[in-house]
Amino acid sequence: MPRPAPQSIRLLLRAAALAFATALVPALAAARPSTFIYSGAVWLDSQGRQIQAHGGGVLFYHRTWYWFGEDRTPGLDPAKRYVACYSSRDLLHWTFRGRPLQLADPEHLGPRWILERPKVYFSPTTHHFVLYFHLDDAHYRLARVATAVSTRITGPYTYVRSFRPLGFESRDIGQFIDDDGSAYLIFESRPSGGFYIAQLSADRLSVTRQVAFLHLPLEGGALVHAGGLYYVLGSHLTGWRPNPNVYATASALVGPWTAFQPIAPASPDTYGSQSTFLLKVTGTKSAAVLFMGDIWKPKILWDSRYLWMPVQIGVGHMLLPPPAPWTIDVRTGAVTIEQP
Ligand code: GAL
Repeated sequence: MPRPAPQSIRLLLRAAALAFATALVPALAAARPSTFIYSGAVWLDSQGRQIQAHGGGVLFYHRTWYWFGEDRTPGLDPAKRYVACYSSRDLLHWTFRGRPLQLADPEHLGPRWILERPKVYFSPTTHHFVLYFHLDDAHYRLARVATAVSTRITGPYTYVRSFRPLGFESRDIGQFIDDDGSAYLIFESRPSGGFYIAQLSADRLSVTRQVAFLHLPLEGGALVHAGGLYYVLGSHLTGWRPNPNVYATASALVGPWTAFQPIAPASPDTYGSQSTFLLKVTGTKSAAVLFMGDIWKPKILWDSRYLWMPVQIGVGHMLLPPPAPWTIDVRTGAVTIEQP
């Protein structure tokens, strides 16, 4: 091998230094006394690994939050799709609870089949957990939801079936549990030109009833009930590219719904994120509503980040403030946003 010239040595040294610094980033982040949630940053789990819960949803169960999402970890079996689960008591520190779903192509969809936006429901009648996800082929032509079931929240989940809810095409899905415990699936349906809010059966295994149809093509659907109003949120259909996410309100799920307006008027791309969930945290003093969004990196999906911020909500308005470090006292519900 020829001896490297001095210039190449300098380049090599620089590359080595960069590799060292990059390797250090997770370690530094882990070492940081983290009382704050930092949107867009690498978010590490209890094992010091980058959280893989993209397009996710959160289920509150036995005083613990469980965060489920797409696990895009490189190096896993390329024939399978994975859902990861994390649990937390403070919404800041997340313990990796494994991969409750590790699924091989369930419907002969071909090597590039798609599993997206997993959401887990608890059935109060069967005491089972039902995992919903968007199932598709490589071209998004199947447009179905699929279900998997488990007796334990952390799985393993067993595949049940796939179907088109109420007979409609369904791509992005969202989840909503109302204050009375009733459960809803939000799904985007292209031929209808909008998205549906539909109720689930008591065993959570089927979609039983259309509650509302909102005539605007929106995906990344999310819904919350706060201060006596329902707020529904979604993004326009621009694939992985962020766009101005919009919301509407209604005093009943069936509507009438107001016109849609942007959740982040100051940012034409919702600060680079796409909605996936709205989480209400009810404390002893107040209730906070958290916007959960994905900052997608389509070429390296595993490195996609999260934008989680408390929204300012009330009297028909919901505003996503510019991302800043923030923290929540889950006991009282009080939120503190660090001022720049
Ligand atoms: C997004 C959608 C993602 C994924 C992506 C593919 O709009 O929310 O879940 O389907 O499109 O382009």
